[in-house]
Amino acid sequence: MTVFDVSWEVLRQRQSMKWTRYAPDVLPLWVAEMDCLLSPGARAAVEEAVRIGDFGYHGRLVLEPAWIRYARDSWGLQLDDQQVAACGNVMAGMTALVEHLTPPGAVIATVSPIYAPFRPAATVGGRSLATVEMTDLGRLDLPGLARLFDQRRPAAFLLCNPHNPCGSIATAAELQTVADLARQYQVLVIVDEIHSLVHDPAVEFVPYLSLPGGADGLVVTSASKAFGLAGAAAGLTVAGVNRVEQMWSLPYEVRASASHIGLLAQTAALDFDRAWLAQLNREIVEHKELLAECLAQVGLVYHPSPATYLAWVDCSPLGLVDPAAHFLERGRVAFNGGAEYDPAYGQWIRINLATSPEIVRQAIRRLEVALEGH
Ligand SMILES: Cc1ncc(COP(=O)(O)O)c(C=O)c1O
Repeated sequence: MTVFDVSWEVLRQRQSMKWTRYAPDVLPLWVAEMDCLLSPGARAAVEEAVRIGDFGYHGRLVLEPAWIRYARDSWGLQLDDQQVAACGNVMAGMTALVEHLTPPGAVIATVSPIYAPFRPAATVGGRSLATVEMTDLGRLDLPGLARLFDQRRPAAFLLCNPHNPCGSIATAAELQTVADLARQYQVLVIVDEIHSLVHDPAVEFVPYLSLPGGADGLVVTSASKAFGLAGAAAGLTVAGVNRVEQMWSLPYEVRASASHIGLLAQTAALDFDRAWLAQLNREIVEHKELLAECLAQVGLVYHPSPATYLAWVDCSPLGLVDPAAHFLERGRVAFNGGAEYDPAYGQWIRINLATSPEIVRQAIRRLEVALEGH
């Protein structure tokens, strides 16, 4: 039994964004939803809630202690219960932190390319955005970041680690440099660690708050990406020890907007579905290798990234005007176009590999069809 053993017929019945955005003949490998059934613990929690009609407001804390247990067991990160608070979802948490903890009109920094909703989060309330480009290897450009901090004096830096779309994981040394620069230039670091559970088991993930400099940082995260629970909105803000008071100064609504069902499902997943997650991570490694092989047949080079189930692929060797649009139109396969992440990356596509190997193969066959006669 593999995690992505779900029939096409079942997937096609879904009413979520991934399966309804395009016409029924389009194979969707775009938005970060997963083509799996719920993991067993999450499913049991949701079924129990349905059985007893447990659809009220959320009550006692559940996800917060589950995250503390998960962070301790997985990363040896010791968090105090005051450091962790629920939020509606990760982007709502990030937006609220920017809005309430930086002055109006401030410059907010991030990297580029970047998961598109970072831009509205950074520019909330008229703040302005400053970006530093990721390196050719999809890593943080630390000298570039230092220059940006020096020249633009941002109030906050929004970091995405693991990175969407590049799939890279920052090392402890890279993160420490970020923390050192942040202290030097008085920049609030807000790290989105939503993809921290999905990575090659051979590669280590280092939580920002585990670093000495992490005490001044804030993290937004959730178990939703790893367990296919994106639509059951719930997330967490996690404060470095020097930011606890500021985190709790956010409006009550930020915490209250988490969905009770999402909190219950993520909690159960974190506590009971770690073997399922390990299996998922093994399968994603295989899917990346499969993708690399398939893409080589069409003259594209993909180096499997250590993290996320999203593959970031440069299609410029194909000489297409707009690769994502071309594949959609001619091959009936939907990927995210790179311009979503940075207008300069229109030659790139992002492929969602949280699906079966058969669907990955079929997607690349469709991509080949789209290239025929081109
Ligand atoms: C880096 C990153 N942050 C945030 C999100 C969205 O999280 P949420 O739905 O909890 O706002 C995603 C979704 O793909 C993501 O990739």
